[in-house]
Amino acid sequence: MIALTTRRFLQTAGLLIAGVVLSACGKKEPPVAAAPAASAAPAPAPAKVYMVGTDAAYAPFESQNEKAEIVGFDIDVVNAVAKKAGMEVKFVNTPWEGIINTLQQGDRDLLVSSITITDERKQSMDFSSPYFDAQQLIAVKENSKVSKFDDLKKLKVGVQTGTTGDEVVTKLQGKNSTNIKRFESTPLALKELEARGVDAVVADNGVVINYLANNTGAKFKSVSDKAFQPEQYGIAVKKGNTELLAKLNKGLADIKADGTYDQLYTKYFGAPPAKVAASPAPAASK
Ligand code: ARG
Repeated sequence: MIALTTRRFLQTAGLLIAGVVLSACGKKEPPVAAAPAASAAPAPAPAKVYMVGTDAAYAPFESQNEKAEIVGFDIDVVNAVAKKAGMEVKFVNTPWEGIINTLQQGDRDLLVSSITITDERKQSMDFSSPYFDAQQLIAVKENSKVSKFDDLKKLKVGVQTGTTGDEVVTKLQGKNSTNIKRFESTPLALKELEARGVDAVVADNGVVINYLANNTGAKFKSVSDKAFQPEQYGIAVKKGNTELLAKLNKGLADIKADGTYDQLYTKYFGAPPAKVAASPAPAASK
């Protein structure tokens, strides 16, 4: 077959080579060449695990159960958000004092810890859209005469260091007051009230109400006051981490839209959150 052209030769050779490769593949042993080829392809990047910092001594928002698992409303919210956003998250118990620094240091990617969004805090971290409405609430012994916030002016008051509760009491009593007893956690402040080491504790309403309900033996009552400003919790990220913030905000919007948020709220607080009237307020004059 002298008439075999170069092209034809190449085609035939190509078929032969292909045949060899195919038969090699047909054998039980994988071709040796397959291993380097596979590892030469870029390995899929392992899914990032987002480290979530939380001070887990703040039931019902974040606390540790008997199995030392971190549980609570905040945890469920972030898990639901993460699911929507396709993010993997890991919760890490993180002391409240210094929790903000863990963002700066890169030890935590986000914080969920009933953190009230404040202008001052916005200087050092970025917040998601608000996910919970809160307010300060006073806890006192059942027989206490305290009936309003102003009554705490000259009393010994327990707070968790660096919380908004600490802020309002410091504002009331003055920053040099020696009557403010600061604790590293809110439950410690409440224990001190039980032991009568302080006359009152000021903390977030949800936590005070939860403590009263679960510690009836402590003989506490709560005292509310309209003087307390409304507060809103946000999920915090390192300042400038707009990419993560966008994911969280999208996830929050998604769980609010599909009813997951209301379901979780009801699970922890007995009823869905009160809806702000969508229709304009009625005219004042009539
Ligand atoms: N909402 C209050 C604040 O932002 C108290 C939050 C305390 N959170 C906690 N997990 N200990 O200051």
